[in-house]
Amino acid sequence: MDKYDDLFTRIRKRAGRVDEVILGLIPDKEPRELYGAARHYPLAGGKRVRPFVVLRAAEAVGGDPDKALYPAAAVELIHNYSLVHDDIMDMDELRRGRPTVHKLWGVNMAILAGDLLFSKAFEAIAKANVSPEKKARVLDVLVRTSNMLCEGQALDIEFEEREHVAVEEYLRMISGKTGALFQGSAEIGAIIGTDNEEYIRALSRWGMNVGIAFQIWDDVLDLIADEEKLGKPVGSDIRKGKKTLIVSHFFDNASEEDKAEFMKVFGKYAGDPTGDALIHDDKVKEEVAKAIELLKKYGSIDYAAHYAKNLVKEANEALKILPESEAKKDLELLAEFLVEREF
Ligand code: IPE
Ligand code: IPE
Ligand code: MG
Ligand code: MG
Ligand code: MG
Repeated sequence: MDKYDDLFTRIRKRAGRVDEVILGLIPDKEPRELYGAARHYPLAGGKRVRPFVVLRAAEAVGGDPDKALYPAAAVELIHNYSLVHDDIMDMDELRRGRPTVHKLWGVNMAILAGDLLFSKAFEAIAKANVSPEKKARVLDVLVRTSNMLCEGQALDIEFEEREHVAVEEYLRMISGKTGALFQGSAEIGAIIGTDNEEYIRALSRWGMNVGIAFQIWDDVLDLIADEEKLGKPVGSDIRKGKKTLIVSHFFDNASEEDKAEFMKVFGKYAGDPTGDALIHDDKVKEEVAKAIELLKKYGSIDYAAHYAKNLVKEANEALKILPESEAKKDLELLAEFLVEREF
């Protein structure tokens, strides 16, 4: 991962400026519970890749990244809102290496903290230093993005109950829950940086493909990552019966016997509010490990990993029409990192 060291330095540098904007928008104030809960994930860190995409996309099309600072904060705020609500829905206990918001403040305050982060994203757009015309267009993209995110999350939840989910359906679901915000990030940066519609379209396409690849890799990490490094629970998707590309591949290829064996664990703890408390239970860990072995037996994890890597190659093709620049190189490098990362 050494080859990404300089990239991380550049991400961290920009993350500091984005954090200043975010924490300025959600100061430590009354009601303390609400603002404390809303500040919890921003203060815990995270990779900060989406705001980096906004800033670098603006630069890659020849624009001024300073103009994209507030919009960059806006997409990170939308991301953080979605994490707070996602952790309630997925009943997860760990995020960015810390207890989740609903674990610390309760579900009601977590819902409100998510709502506040969502609303602050639009405050950030309102405060952005761009022309009224560009602002209206950025707003349009952010609204489309948020709508798609909700639609994708709704499908994710719906699919938990479904026995079979086709690959196309899975792709539609992740295009919404994750692809849309990456697409929106790249598109917003491009809109701020240029009037060249071809460039804007190219970055939009790049963002969607990178976002889809990112989620497929996230699904891989859920199975094979080191929990400490990942900062969130491993095996959670198995316990909840989450439909992923990995699982689709397994069902298309496994013997009836292995499928039946897998189903003994898959989704066993869906809807069980104590499911995550069981993560440290040795029996559950063993069950999940067995299920993962079955996925490995059919090469399902490798299949998904290759799928994600190929998508990134395709995504970076879309950037070919942009002039050469450090910013463009960073976007390409970032995309590669996103499907190699261990966290
Ligand atoms: C996690 O996103 C949510 C998904 C869309 C899979 P990240 O992996 O970007 O989370 P942070 O921001 O680094 O914590
Ligand atoms: C995340 O999907 C999608 C969001 C919009 C937050 P996951 O549920 O797989 O994300 P993690 O693994 O909890 O971060
Ligand atoms: Mg989820
Ligand atoms: Mg989740
Ligand atoms: Mg996940």
